[in-house]
Amino acid sequence: MTEKADATQENTGKQSRKPLVAGNWKMHGQKEQIQEVLAIRDALMAMPNRPKADVMICPPATLLMVMAELIDKSVIAFGGQDCHAFEKGPHTGDISAAMLKDAGASAVIVGHSERREDHGETDDLVQKKAMATHNAGLASIICVGETKGQRQYDLTLDVINRQLEGSVPPESTPQNTIIAYEPVWAIGTGLVPTLDDIATVHANIRETLEKRFPEHAAGMRILYGGSVKPGNAGQLMKVENVDGALVGGASLKADDFMKIINVYGSDKKTPPPDPKQSVK
Ligand code: 13P
Repeated sequence: MTEKADATQENTGKQSRKPLVAGNWKMHGQKEQIQEVLAIRDALMAMPNRPKADVMICPPATLLMVMAELIDKSVIAFGGQDCHAFEKGPHTGDISAAMLKDAGASAVIVGHSERREDHGETDDLVQKKAMATHNAGLASIICVGETKGQRQYDLTLDVINRQLEGSVPPESTPQNTIIAYEPVWAIGTGLVPTLDDIATVHANIRETLEKRFPEHAAGMRILYGGSVKPGNAGQLMKVENVDGALVGGASLKADDFMKIINVYGSDKKTPPPDPKQSVK
């Protein structure tokens, strides 16, 4: 466990799964987008107490290092959106987990449905990428989720169990592994499953993890992603076994993202970090 992986998960017990609100910026954002992350940083620093949720932004790789140098990871952690399964080598255009760590990341999203679809990524490859992430000392955010057709044919839990089985490495722990349930049909569409459906899938994910990782499953965070917005986050984040959100579109605007973080409120016991220490 590294210092940075630690920063995203302070506790491991069932009662103490600290929520995580992570923004996946996807292929959005050039230099001017840095203003949004600074606005998020300023809003977090202005809170009288620290937010109850960990906060992470996964920007395009081109913005990662500059953001990570501007902002203390105890205020906002940073993540990559993908990595190669190897540490280095002749793979033009690819980025390794070690490089993302070097740039300031503490986690990497792997197996997002957009990568599974755009790049034909299989569960086996996703598992290799997750292992590469862990070997670099980073946490992986492993995405699973069914398509609309699979849901219509009542295959949701089968698909998700197969993805979990194939994509989650055997050495996974609460420190190095976060699962994100993202129904493909809910991504970017404004559609969300019913709260009951989300509860069913998240309970199934926890159960499946318990079978494979009896000692660790209770501490693993399971995020929900897919059209999480300020208007629905309050309800979605209350669902049992939902330990935070992986947010796409609504993470691109500081105001919207802060409204989602604020669903969790702030922790009276921990004052915010000293601004002089936190802002380089
Ligand atoms: P939206 O929040 O834009 O639906 O995207 C969700 C997502 O894919 C996050 O990884």
